[in-house]
Amino acid sequence: MRNILVTGGAGFIGSNFVHHVLETGDDHVTVLDKLTYAGNRASLEGLPADRLDFVEGDIADAALVDGLFAEADAVVNFAAESHNDNSLSEPRPFLDTNIVGTYTLLEAARAHGTRLHHISTDEVYGDLELDDPVRFTERTPYNPSSPYSSTKAGSDLLVRAWVRSFGVRATISNCSNNYGPYQHVEKFIPRQITNVLRGIRPKLYGAGLNVRDWIHANDHSSAVMTILDKGEIGQTYLIGADGERSNRDVVELILELMGRSRDDYDHVVDRPGHDLRYAIDSTRLRTELGWEPRFQDFESGLADTIAWYRDHEDWWAPAKDATEAFYAARGQ
Ligand code: NAD
Ligand code: DAU
Repeated sequence: MRNILVTGGAGFIGSNFVHHVLETGDDHVTVLDKLTYAGNRASLEGLPADRLDFVEGDIADAALVDGLFAEADAVVNFAAESHNDNSLSEPRPFLDTNIVGTYTLLEAARAHGTRLHHISTDEVYGDLELDDPVRFTERTPYNPSSPYSSTKAGSDLLVRAWVRSFGVRATISNCSNNYGPYQHVEKFIPRQITNVLRGIRPKLYGAGLNVRDWIHANDHSSAVMTILDKGEIGQTYLIGADGERSNRDVVELILELMGRSRDDYDHVVDRPGHDLRYAIDSTRLRTELGWEPRFQDFESGLADTIAWYRDHEDWWAPAKDATEAFYAARGQ
């Protein structure tokens, strides 16, 4: 039984990962989370209290982090500012958490010799043309577009440098777009589902032809555990489940699954610098570590996600009005 320190464990993917670890094994989890607007303790309700500790704090707080690393057998870093649209209006927190925070974790890993897995994104590779058969691989050059993705790219490069220069025992994974329960209503899929539940028309940026490569958060969790257990130190693994879909297709499917007309949505102001297409080739993770996704039926995963938001209005409602006010001010 290990003690796994999970930073950002009250966020969307971090909380899904904590559920996964506690529900599938014997490990103990300590969550370190700053509880920004994106963190929610309610996402960890119902988990076994004797195997879960929660610490409220900042990954850039070196003294706090050092003490937690001293007690940890392994660390998985999910903590980040994660939303592109926020990074376009206020980039500074992205530098503080994604860059300085990751640096702080690396220094603690170096001091204690702790195994660290760093969670990153496919957005570090920039975007692909819509009609390009190419997908991202571990060898694709970094070419981030937004303040968010550039700070994630910077954090990855720090991890690589600390591995090479100081022998830190770290791995990196870059995953595609996740969906599932506990995702903040600022993000595309929960925003549209909760809009429909509130009687608001879904909002599609621009023409809606941009493509994202969707993976269920449960598959992201199993991939991270696989890398933590079997990954080679210093290596990067891309995580994806062959789930490419245009934003327009996703909105229309949400509307259909919720019993509304497929064209009952608005086109709104596009995102500046909007990446066209992401697509992951996860061959390395599958062939070298034997991982396979298990939740590849997007339509049924989306139906389950819609049901979850329908049943958990108490979880998302407190954030909905402020989120929509933020978007309305931007014409989105
Ligand atoms: P999220 O915004 O839902 O959660 C982030 C969590 O980190 C929140 O609980 C927040 O309170 C916490 N946090 C933020 N700053 C912190 C700090 N300084 N110290 C401690 N905690 C802090 O994000 P998410 O969507 O769950 O993403 C998690 C990770 O996965 C991020 O690194 C993100 O880049 C990466 N990622 C996300 C996706 C996706 O589709 N959402 C895809 C690939 C990779
Ligand atoms: O690819 C991985 C990335 O996926 C992660 O690194 C990010 O943390 C995560 O937020 C996500 O980034 P995106 O920018 O792709 O996700 P978002 O949910 O913000 O938007 C998905 C797509 O939907 C994108 O093309 C923009 C579009 N969109 C978004 C919103 C919120 C809309 O058309 N309408 C909307 O209301």
